[in-house]
Amino acid sequence: MVSRVIPVDPFDLVVFGGTGDLAKRKILPGLYIRFLAGQMPAESRIIGAARAELTDEGFRALVAAALSEFVAKDKQDAAVITQFLGRLHYVAIDATGEGGWPQLASLMRTGVVRAFYFSVAPTLFGDLAERLHAHDIADEHSRIVVEKPFGRDLASARALNAVLAEHFHESQIYRIDHYLGKETVQNLMAVRFANILFEPLWNAQYVDHVQITVAETVGVNGRGAYYDKSGAMRDMVQNHMMQLLCLIAMEPPYKFDPDAVRDEKLKVIRALEPVPAEDIVRGQYRGAGRKDGPEAASYLEDCGNPQSRTESYLALKVRVANWRWQGTSFYLRTGKKLRARTSEIAIIFKEAPHSIFGEDEGWKANVLAIRLQPNEGMNLTVMIKEPGPGGMRLTEVPLDMSFAEALGEEGMDIPDAYERLIMDVIRGNQTLFMRGDEVEAAWAWTDPIIEGWEARGDKPRGYDPGSSGPEDALMLLHRDGRRWREIRE
Ligand code: NDP
Ligand code: BG6
Repeated sequence: MVSRVIPVDPFDLVVFGGTGDLAKRKILPGLYIRFLAGQMPAESRIIGAARAELTDEGFRALVAAALSEFVAKDKQDAAVITQFLGRLHYVAIDATGEGGWPQLASLMRTGVVRAFYFSVAPTLFGDLAERLHAHDIADEHSRIVVEKPFGRDLASARALNAVLAEHFHESQIYRIDHYLGKETVQNLMAVRFANILFEPLWNAQYVDHVQITVAETVGVNGRGAYYDKSGAMRDMVQNHMMQLLCLIAMEPPYKFDPDAVRDEKLKVIRALEPVPAEDIVRGQYRGAGRKDGPEAASYLEDCGNPQSRTESYLALKVRVANWRWQGTSFYLRTGKKLRARTSEIAIIFKEAPHSIFGEDEGWKANVLAIRLQPNEGMNLTVMIKEPGPGGMRLTEVPLDMSFAEALGEEGMDIPDAYERLIMDVIRGNQTLFMRGDEVEAAWAWTDPIIEGWEARGDKPRGYDPGSSGPEDALMLLHRDGRRWREIRE
């Protein structure tokens, strides 16, 4: 099945930090793919902006190199790349100074969508907002895209919201959480709200517990300085995993409208209970023993701080205090250098109230597993009779659906999250972006958890690279008579 392409309106997109890592790996390749797909009108333009003194030609050469490195070979069409590079311009600008702003102002056109992507360090977001306003470059129809991290606690997130609000209305601010742009994450809403099958069972009466896993095999990968100030809580849980939890736990919105969806997510975040110390397990990966090379380094070596107590692994038991989820545990875990790269949400249903088949007949609970990556898809386990004459023995079979296989012979082209999200910005659709109050509520829940382990002086537990995380994380479920699902691709 080929995905439908609806061209967006012509636009001028300014990428501040257009020469940086994120721009080269995600933003510019994503825009090229949309151009290749015919979604980006030819009269649109992308304007890179950073301090480096580059000409348009210099910027195009840099982007050409990025496309050749980060776009799949079968998508690299030389003629289309040349056309795409022709849509690129560059202005040398310092976010903290006045140079370059008049040039940018003179480049902007009227009659097209104006969007500004803040792909620079968060300390510069306020400077950019202020100067866009001071130089009359942004008007009331313009949009700004703000990268993560959005603050490092409630106070800093509030301060950032306040600075942005001085110059932009909430409807113009697109706070990125790239997990919301993942195809399967959006599919969660389709599965829940476009099928009658699941909704009657989607509550504490039928759901035993939920497991949300985001496991990575990579370490901190040269981002040690940033990561050591964040850890898994700030880097993954406060944003990406919180969003997954919201999509699982929220009530049906009255329609698929940005504020209707975000209102429901906000209610979930506000209903989260404080997490006691015994429901938190933090870990730090050890070195890989006899191996050499960068992949053998421990977290402490990777982050360059031998005293660090930052967690590269975090598991939490979370409760949502409302009628629907009273008594249901949501177990969240995420970590680096784990056994496999896999992200999955598993809904583990309760046992049938009465078994007519007897204890020993192989009965197991139904599980709905939604795989976010890799091999996006869904798997529902159901019990059937084991074939053969051996009596009424039960066995579990998967109703397995790989989206790629189910949606077409060659598999559907699943777009990268950034492709989808940037096109939503141009369309003016905020459904998959975080609202200011959502981000603040997420920090309001996160802050006391972090303050708690800092006050207790908790040290993260060591775990071996390639493992499933610290032993204590197993206990978090064992204690409740449950076990984690295996981490595997
Ligand atoms: P980089 O350090 O690779 O790039 C920073 C960019 O900002 C460069 O283009 C740099 O160019 C420009 N820049 C720096 N200072 C200024 C300034 N004073 N005025 C104008 N431009 C400036 O960072 P990343 O690309 O990795 O990150 C960008 C943003 O994206 C950050 O907010 C980060 O947290 C976020 N992010 C990044 C991810 C990643 O995987 N890289 C993942 C998720 C979020 P120059 O030095 O020439 O000015
Ligand atoms: C980023 C985090 O937001 O998400 C990284 O900063 C993490 O630490 C990444 O590796 C994971 O994203 P994905 O799309 O690879 O699951």
